Amino acid sequence: MKLLIDDANIDNIKYLYEYFPVSGVTTNPSILFKNKKDPLETLVEIREFIGDDQLHIQVLSDNADDIVKEARLLKEKFGTNTFIKIPTNKEGLKAMRLLENEKIKITATAIYSPTQAFLASLAGAVYVAPYVNRIDNLGYDGVETTIKIQNILEKNQTDTKVLAASFKNTNQVLKLAEYGISIATCSYEVFGKFIEDNNVNKAVEDFVNDFKAIDKDRRTWTDYLG
Ligand code: G3P
Repeated sequence: MKLLIDDANIDNIKYLYEYFPVSGVTTNPSILFKNKKDPLETLVEIREFIGDDQLHIQVLSDNADDIVKEARLLKEKFGTNTFIKIPTNKEGLKAMRLLENEKIKITATAIYSPTQAFLASLAGAVYVAPYVNRIDNLGYDGVETTIKIQNILEKNQTDTKVLAASFKNTNQVLKLAEYGISIATCSYEVFGKFIEDNNVNKAVEDFVNDFKAIDKDRRTWTDYLG
């Protein structure tokens, strides 16, 4: 499973790239709104910073013809490793099919059900993005729904992969890693929880203190060897 950053704040993205093994960035209109900056400038800045890594950008139109136009323009502006996020409703599915023969990579988004994912895979989406936590909030099981989607895609021998989104805790992510889900995109807050563990901090502190007791002037191997 690869990890992407579900955030448009460039400082958050730079921080997460520094500390975590991440492979790109996903955005949506709400995330760009939350960032409170010019959305186009923000996306350009993100693309410059992440180089050729995956960047997922959502279209804003609500009818198929205009979605197609946006998709072409976004691909031209942001390059080949840009995934055009298209909501998986009727107009979105129509747009996916219209784009099927163009070299435009599609992430079918706003997926709440296996049926949507199945249809998007038939319409040529590279990724389908189930909203794990939002499905949980509807009283269903987001992790189970995502695994079901993965099984349907595998059984139907499609090339479409799962990009799971909308997480509120690390356990949701880890359960999906166990099933080999291709990608999980996580918010800055969820990344913070991945290694927030007092047991780990205490263990590291104990190692440092024990070694200090050997020789107070030589605390690291650099002091011995450097
Ligand atoms: O990428 C989709 C995702 O951003 C939705 O997440 O946290 O708004 O449910 P959330």
